[in-house]
Amino acid sequence: MIDGEIMNEKDVELSKLKASEEACRMISEISGVNVVGLGTGSTVRKFIEVCFLQLRKFKIVASSPDTVVFTKKLGLYALDTLSVDEVDLYIDGADEVSTQLDMVKGRGGALLREKTLAYISNIRVYVVDYTKYTGLDYLYVKPIPIEVVPVALNYVIRSIKKTGLFEPFLRTGGGKDGPVVTDNGNYIIDLKPLKPVQNPREVHYSLKSIHGVVETGLFPSGELVDVVIVGYPDRAVVLRRQ
Ligand code: A5P
Repeated sequence: MIDGEIMNEKDVELSKLKASEEACRMISEISGVNVVGLGTGSTVRKFIEVCFLQLRKFKIVASSPDTVVFTKKLGLYALDTLSVDEVDLYIDGADEVSTQLDMVKGRGGALLREKTLAYISNIRVYVVDYTKYTGLDYLYVKPIPIEVVPVALNYVIRSIKKTGLFEPFLRTGGGKDGPVVTDNGNYIIDLKPLKPVQNPREVHYSLKSIHGVVETGLFPSGELVDVVIVGYPDRAVVLRRQ
């Protein structure tokens, strides 16, 4: 690893910390919060560590076994999503954020349960480091994961190719040979955009209409995003949906 990369890694870690501290401050300022939803990933883990004392005051719902295990280690016990009707505040990370606050999520394969929590949450806050905020008004940089029922895999890949919008890659690896299997027993196909995604909401619904697609990693701002906190090494910037 060269020096620049080490520096960049440190900057990214510091930026995650800054965004997490801001999210934690925000939680303590919002009144009436009882149930907090927690997403998945390294930035959410940072947030949980930073905000551990405040989180002890709330009921916690987690979006993945990974987050359940992490919170349990800290003495926080997460409820099953089925045991709550709604979530007051949801905190999660993201892979790519546009200036419209549309997002791509699902690098960690937890997109389906993350989206369920986002749908049942009243306020959705995402914490990201500066490398995720592209400054573009469309999505293009990161592959868009879709969760697919295994038996429909070939049909979905064929259908995606026909659209001419994406190049599909079956996600493999992760400690076993063959396809990555999600927490719901499904496969993930990563879709590399062949052109900018200007209308994530329409693209999301068109992908969902393909037989076998259970969920997409597109989180359109109008439906699932309220606040994005972008961390930089020396500050955090709060972006709100207009
Ligand atoms: C999990 O499947 C993802 O949606 C994560 O929330 C997203 O990839 C962000 O993860 P990091 O905070 O680790 O970058």
